[in-house]
Amino acid sequence: MSIKIAPSLLAADFGRLESEIKRVEKHVDWLHLDVMDGHFVPNISFGIPVIESIRGVTDLYFDCHVMTTNPDTYLEEFVRAGVNLLSMHIETIPDPTGPAGRVKEAGLDFGLVINPITPFEGMAPFVELCDLVVVMSVEPGFGGQSFMPEVLPKVEAAREWVENRGLTADIQVDGGITPENARLVTEAGANVLVAGSAIFGAEDPTSAIEKMRRAVES
Ligand code: DX5
Ligand code: ZN
Repeated sequence: MSIKIAPSLLAADFGRLESEIKRVEKHVDWLHLDVMDGHFVPNISFGIPVIESIRGVTDLYFDCHVMTTNPDTYLEEFVRAGVNLLSMHIETIPDPTGPAGRVKEAGLDFGLVINPITPFEGMAPFVELCDLVVVMSVEPGFGGQSFMPEVLPKVEAAREWVENRGLTADIQVDGGITPENARLVTEAGANVLVAGSAIFGAEDPTSAIEKMRRAVES
């Protein structure tokens, strides 16, 4: 299975977003954009105007992780800003059927996210609506936290669910991923790795990306 690497812009230098993106864009598959509202999570990051601006500097696939209490509210604005995928927390949309339908109708891909504490079972019936299943491996809200290995069984459960039903959803793990633990995550069944501090926080982001790729592809 080919592995996608999605650096999280949250760990980039916000004072020079264009050059930060240019440093990684040729070496990665997606760009992960963490939108936070200071309500669903105890932090505020960036929003639609920033996404719209960076859309002008890269053609990378924008994987937008929406950590807001009402993730469905700004759909049209996200579309106009140029995101490719919106992933929303099951904790904020217990029945994702409506939001998933609206996102797809708007021409975007749809992802569903579960927090470390949330069991996979609540999400399972909705995986068939998803282009992406996201298993959080840290509490959402902040970059730079340590990976929680106890979520690996959920990654396995998600992979098994997808395979057994012939579904096509990608499986992403988000939080605390490094070149050292990336292999554990892909072996559990993930094929999209989000990494913020391990990439943008590295002295040489390109070599951090290559190291991560080698770790999972060897
Ligand atoms: C946390 C975010 C993550 C975070 C990952 O709420 O969803 O995407 O930026 O950053 P690292 O890789 O530093 O844990
Ligand atoms: Zn994220």
